[in-house]
Amino acid sequence: MKILDQEADTGSALSTARLLEKIEIMRSMLRWAARLERRDIEKLLAQAGSLRDEVMQLSHKERFLRAAGGESLPAQQLPAGERRRQLLARSFVFEGVFGDNPKLLDALEVAEKAAPTDLPVLIDGESGTGKELMAKVIHANGARSDKPYISVNCGAIPDTLIESELFGHRRGAFTGAATDRKGKFESAHRGTIFLDEIGELPLPGQVKLLRVLQSHEIQRVGSDEPIAVDCRIVAATNKNLRKLIAEGSFREDLFYRLSVIHLTLPPLRERKDEIPLLLAYYADEAAEALKRPPVKFTPRLRSFLLNYAYPGNVRELRNLLYRLSCLAGELADVAHLPEDIRPRPLGLADGADGRGAASLPSSLGEAKRAASDEAERAFLERGLKEVGGSVSELARRCDMNRSHLQMLLKKHGIHSKDFRVGKPPPADGARQQAAH
Ligand SMILES: Nc1ncnc2c1ncn2[C@@H]1O[C@H](COP(=O)(O)OP(=O)(O)OP(=O)(O)O)[C@@H](O)[C@H]1O
Ligand SMILES: [Mg+2]
Repeated sequence: MKILDQEADTGSALSTARLLEKIEIMRSMLRWAARLERRDIEKLLAQAGSLRDEVMQLSHKERFLRAAGGESLPAQQLPAGERRRQLLARSFVFEGVFGDNPKLLDALEVAEKAAPTDLPVLIDGESGTGKELMAKVIHANGARSDKPYISVNCGAIPDTLIESELFGHRRGAFTGAATDRKGKFESAHRGTIFLDEIGELPLPGQVKLLRVLQSHEIQRVGSDEPIAVDCRIVAATNKNLRKLIAEGSFREDLFYRLSVIHLTLPPLRERKDEIPLLLAYYADEAAEALKRPPVKFTPRLRSFLLNYAYPGNVRELRNLLYRLSCLAGELADVAHLPEDIRPRPLGLADGADGRGAASLPSSLGEAKRAASDEAERAFLERGLKEVGGSVSELARRCDMNRSHLQMLLKKHGIHSKDFRVGKPPPADGARQQAAH
């Protein structure tokens, strides 16, 4: 039986028709698979692997062509859900990025167009907005996705070591250089190098980096020998590089070299519509990590989480959810928030420390709901105190259905046993922890 001749196809142009033809031949051979020898099966498997690689290449190319202009409506005019669906249909790899905010989708669509090229990309945005995640998205959607992805934090390397870290060194180049060592650029050869916190790179390092970008060659510290490197460069910063240029601490020519494609990620406060989704997502993630049911929020905490300004963006939200899940058990309240962001009790919300501003309700309706929740909680706590923690007695006195009362107590995370006679009611901060 004739097996497809792989060698004959090497180097020929990719086309859907040619791939389909190869797949058809393979299909017809597979009908006889039971009678094939092991050697032939191995060949077929190898061919299936290389066909898959070709389809992947084609999909990168087609994706690029479609992204570059095939659509009739500008993506920005489509509804967010449709934009995300279209990215999915073009087999865009999201790497865990989620959210349908138009600014985020703009960034993803630019990333999609940039990924199959080798153009340098500069990503900026506040801390925790997902710059590193976006660098991974660009790598994963490009033709280099199966090659190394090397991340360098330019802000974490001492000035004296940055050159050797990036470009490597020869043995004896400086005290402590006991052996030859390759740098991050060589490690990222044929792949992607992610230069994080590029704004922290000292000026001498900037000059060297510029040279590499121009010549595609590096020299190890202590060596004159040029080494060719082929790296796709993605850089990120949470600094305003134009401001650094004006101050003289960042080179303008390097900025233009790095920012051929410039992506800005929106802070979370500009995409508040995503917060409910992120809360649910990270509540589940934390639950899985901590091996417990997903945490629920009292209305007061939920209102806070939906309106808080998140200066640390998605990272801060994620960390908060882990903290709440860990400290609160099933139902979390504002008492479980870190002290420095915890809203003051109602009435003090606009206190001099300005903390109330972060959780200020966004509408009158919400303010009313928050006040009503607060009144409900105070009523229940006072009532339980008066009746020594007996739910049945409180239900009788208030002429309420006992199970409805239980439900309200659960909603606020109040435990009747904390009000039993002889046991002082817990302080606000400790209430939830005592309850669980
Ligand atoms: N759109 C998003 N969808 C899902 N997760 C996100 C998104 N944006 C950020 N994250 C998550 O937030 C956290 C911070 O993201 P990342 O490290 O990429 O931010 P960064 O901008 O590089 O921050 P920094 O400037 O502090 O280095 C990570 O856990 C990341 O997975
Ligand atoms: Mg980062």
